[in-house]
Amino acid sequence: MSNIESILTENRVFEVSDEIKKTFSVSEEKLAEMRAKAAEDHVGFWSDLAREKLSWSKPFTVGLDDSKAPHYKWFTDGELNVSYNCIDRHLQDKSDKTAIIFEGDRGDIERYTYKELHDQVCRFANTLTAQGVEKGDRVIIYMPMIPQAVIAMQACARIGAIHSVVFGGFSAEALRDRIVDAGAKMVITTNGSRRGGKTIPLKHAVDTALEKGCEQVKKVIVYRRTDDEVEMQEGRDIDWLEAEAGMSNYHDPVAVDSEHPLFLLYTSGSTGKPKGVQHSSGGYLLNAHVTNEWMFDLNDNDVFWCTADVGWITGHSYVAYGPLSVGATMVMFEGVPTYPDAGRFWQVCQDHGVTVFYTAPTAIRALMKFGADLPKQYDLEKLRLLGTVGEPINPEAWMWYHDVIGQGRCPIIDTWWQTETGAHMIAPFPVTPLKPGSCTQPLPGIDAVILDEEGNELIGNEGGLLAIKQPWPSMIRNVWGDEERYRNTYFPLEGKPYYVVGDSAHRDADGYFWILGRVDDVLNVSGHRLGTMEIESALVSHAKVAEAAVVGRPHDVKGEAVAAFVVLNVDLPEGDERDALVQELRNWVSQEIGPIAKPDDIRFGTNLPKTRSGKIMRRLLRAIAKGEEITQDTSTLEDPTILDQFQKK
Ligand code: PRX
Repeated sequence: MSNIESILTENRVFEVSDEIKKTFSVSEEKLAEMRAKAAEDHVGFWSDLAREKLSWSKPFTVGLDDSKAPHYKWFTDGELNVSYNCIDRHLQDKSDKTAIIFEGDRGDIERYTYKELHDQVCRFANTLTAQGVEKGDRVIIYMPMIPQAVIAMQACARIGAIHSVVFGGFSAEALRDRIVDAGAKMVITTNGSRRGGKTIPLKHAVDTALEKGCEQVKKVIVYRRTDDEVEMQEGRDIDWLEAEAGMSNYHDPVAVDSEHPLFLLYTSGSTGKPKGVQHSSGGYLLNAHVTNEWMFDLNDNDVFWCTADVGWITGHSYVAYGPLSVGATMVMFEGVPTYPDAGRFWQVCQDHGVTVFYTAPTAIRALMKFGADLPKQYDLEKLRLLGTVGEPINPEAWMWYHDVIGQGRCPIIDTWWQTETGAHMIAPFPVTPLKPGSCTQPLPGIDAVILDEEGNELIGNEGGLLAIKQPWPSMIRNVWGDEERYRNTYFPLEGKPYYVVGDSAHRDADGYFWILGRVDDVLNVSGHRLGTMEIESALVSHAKVAEAAVVGRPHDVKGEAVAAFVVLNVDLPEGDERDALVQELRNWVSQEIGPIAKPDDIRFGTNLPKTRSGKIMRRLLRAIAKGEEITQDTSTLEDPTILDQFQKK
């Protein structure tokens, strides 16, 4: 059964016992109250939370400014510093509390109290200032999952510099595009990273990226994570520890406007190059803060572990900012789930007493394959909540997570949201009755609706396009440097206020949402977002490729895999040479974008299936990629014989 079919036929309901319910901070009554308040006074609901949860150096008087809708501003005349909110305000009563427990790939462990984190962030903030970084400057962070990545992000926030973290798995080409688009002045990186028992170089990609078109980058700060040698360019590259030597442990956080951009994070869309999603300071932090409290119930005794890399939005809201803002203890892990064996995640949970664990369905599916005996070898008794994010979770994986990892006791918090939404949007509170495969109901203050193709709101038990009707504090503020693209992409319904998500969803009779997947040309491979057009552009930039079309096909671990249909401008080689070409093209995509974008399947034909007006018939390609029989009407095809060519592997 496909994922969508299994989701749409699911009808089990799971409720936690009253005894466990009592342990959660937000009761059903409190939740009902919050929903009622938000429905009655949307802006007042968020404004009260912003006053209660965040520390403002200058209080705001305006909740929402919608005078330039859909360019919304929240808490506009207020000022705050995000790093102050994440660190300094805890120093009075939590200075010795552990903020970060770090476990390296090889099992090396480091702990940082809030005071130690404060000192490190201050030293690095002073370092950035000494290196000429000022408020509003863009700084690229291209680092592995080590505490220094969070320290760098927090230090940028402290001085009002705008960071853009680029996932360490992206190639030099992808890195360059982001450096150029952001107009970054500095890159912070490491000599390499440690993953799965190996060391992987990183800095060389920065060197390659900076070879052309990045003249505005004046400095590169390099943290030495591995023992490997690293080439340093005189005058440009600086060693982190040397630069930091003698810097003060004190730094006065720079107060910024609530709307000051905290960061840019590049993400794929259906057209063009990845866009720089611009997030604000006050509004972003508010939703990152409250969702860590609401969905994960983080309290003083919790140890929270979100497995996401800081290169993705999840690693921003649920590693670098949210858990610190609520004053929690969190785990950061450098390695991979299967090294030294597939029990690694459960070992980390056991050793650090993890109480709340948050990961992606793709990881659950991959670990499920190793059976239930492996997790049983570890003590997972402390776990009390389990989260998932990034893609629809199929009921089978949900049940395994619930029964084997959560031992039937831990609610599964399936969180639907996006890079652009900043934080959770549709997700259960721990007390919410659960249905496997459903992210349940919108959060209080999040006005999710379902639209038909024409943009009319559907009421009741229906499926269609997911949209958000009213602005919320952590929403995307702009596509960096391109207001028109922001409006066209997210608010395409002329004259209507809907933020259109790009996902289709179904709402059942209980008002529960079931996300069915993207409706645009965006793929979701292992929970990572990739634009088909990006991969197509990478393929056609290869000398032997004339044309390419990319579609997704279902994959039992990755959710979706990349399938590429390629037209060559040379004769199609046979046998081993053909296999070698397939490999060459896969490596090419990896080099242009990163290993996550490598096609699983590459097929060749003399043309792409197009209509007589030249439009590529992607639905046919999707059917071929899935290995389905073609039942669609092919009469509009310019050349029907093409299909036979592509059907041959
Ligand atoms: O299609 C939805 C899917 O991931 C997309 C957003 O991807 P990205 O911006 O990379 O953010 C991922 C982490 C928040 C969405 O449009 N998605 C995310 N979470 C879920 C999901 N699909 C179903 N269920 C989820 N819980």
